[in-house]
Amino acid sequence: MKILAIESSCDETAAAVIEDGVKVLSNVVVSQVDIFAAYGGVIPEVAARSHLEAILPVVKQALSDAGLTKDDIDYIAVTYAPGLLGSLLIGTLTARMLAILWQKPLYAVHHLKSHIYANWLAGEEPQFPLLALVVSGGHTQIIYMEEHNKFEIIGTTRDDAVGECFDKVAKILGLPYPGGPSVARVAEQGSNKRYKLPIPRVEGLDFSFSGLKTAVLRAVQAELGLPITTPSYELSKHLSRQQVADFAAVFQETAAEILVEKMENALQAHPEALSVVTAGGVSANQALRQKAIERLSDANTVVFFPELRYSGDNAAMVGAAAYFEIISGVKPTDPYSLNIAPRTPII
Ligand code: KG4
Ligand code: ZN
Repeated sequence: MKILAIESSCDETAAAVIEDGVKVLSNVVVSQVDIFAAYGGVIPEVAARSHLEAILPVVKQALSDAGLTKDDIDYIAVTYAPGLLGSLLIGTLTARMLAILWQKPLYAVHHLKSHIYANWLAGEEPQFPLLALVVSGGHTQIIYMEEHNKFEIIGTTRDDAVGECFDKVAKILGLPYPGGPSVARVAEQGSNKRYKLPIPRVEGLDFSFSGLKTAVLRAVQAELGLPITTPSYELSKHLSRQQVADFAAVFQETAAEILVEKMENALQAHPEALSVVTAGGVSANQALRQKAIERLSDANTVVFFPELRYSGDNAAMVGAAAYFEIISGVKPTDPYSLNIAPRTPII
């Protein structure tokens, strides 16, 4: 079974062909990261226009990289939620049109579900029941899955997502967008012992990251002996390279600790979980990966990470998620009426 999958929820235009759910025949990603590095963040209007320009060449490339034509494709899959409105519209309209013209069944996939299913592209299959730690630019959630396509959100952030926090801390430290990889890169040269940041105490399995971002801001202001009224964009020019590296290291360590502590609690609440899967852009973070392996894996539980090329936004994961819907008997969606849902939670 071959699925042509399309992803355009944020600032990556992506298409992939997936065979039998887990074999990636092609995976094309055109990133707009260079455009948005100049602005320090994504501009939705610009993202939508870039998708419009890139989407058809990207789909064409995915087919030709796989050595296939439209006749070899059995299904079309596309991200319909959540994400930026204009970005989602370009991908879904393209997929709707291809499904109608080529007469293929269409599957609409939730973006976070796709991130979770990126773990199925790594070779070994995660086992159910499982706990998923979803950590992206827009979401931070712990999701319990008893079986395929069954999602129970058991923890969520009450304010910022962890990826957003990486991006904001990067700005305070004067590091380029996207913040996660920048923070991780400079943290390698830093010590996570020089400064201390508080771990927020949030009830149950929920998270809070806005306080951590402010704690970094206050710590930087204090280190420089500047008043708390000093705007964040004024700070980085006063910091030495070593100070930036040390702040990046302690922030990364604290963010990873917050995530892993909550996952430990989640595992205590669900000792029957056979796998822990990590999902979303922040799952690329090596400090998080190391801590998660050390603290969450035991004789009962295996910890999974997506391959690095599938941890950020891509379409291969959309194809994997669609495959498990198809083989579970989920019905295709109507290509004439599929709408986007920029804010809907995982279902
Ligand atoms: O899943 P993703 O590519 O897009 C969304 O669905 O949001 O996640 C993007 C987020 C950004 O906030 C980015 O800074 C973060 O993932 N990120 C990282 C790393 N690579 C990407 N955060 C920490 N460490 C990384 N290595
Ligand atoms: Zn994503």
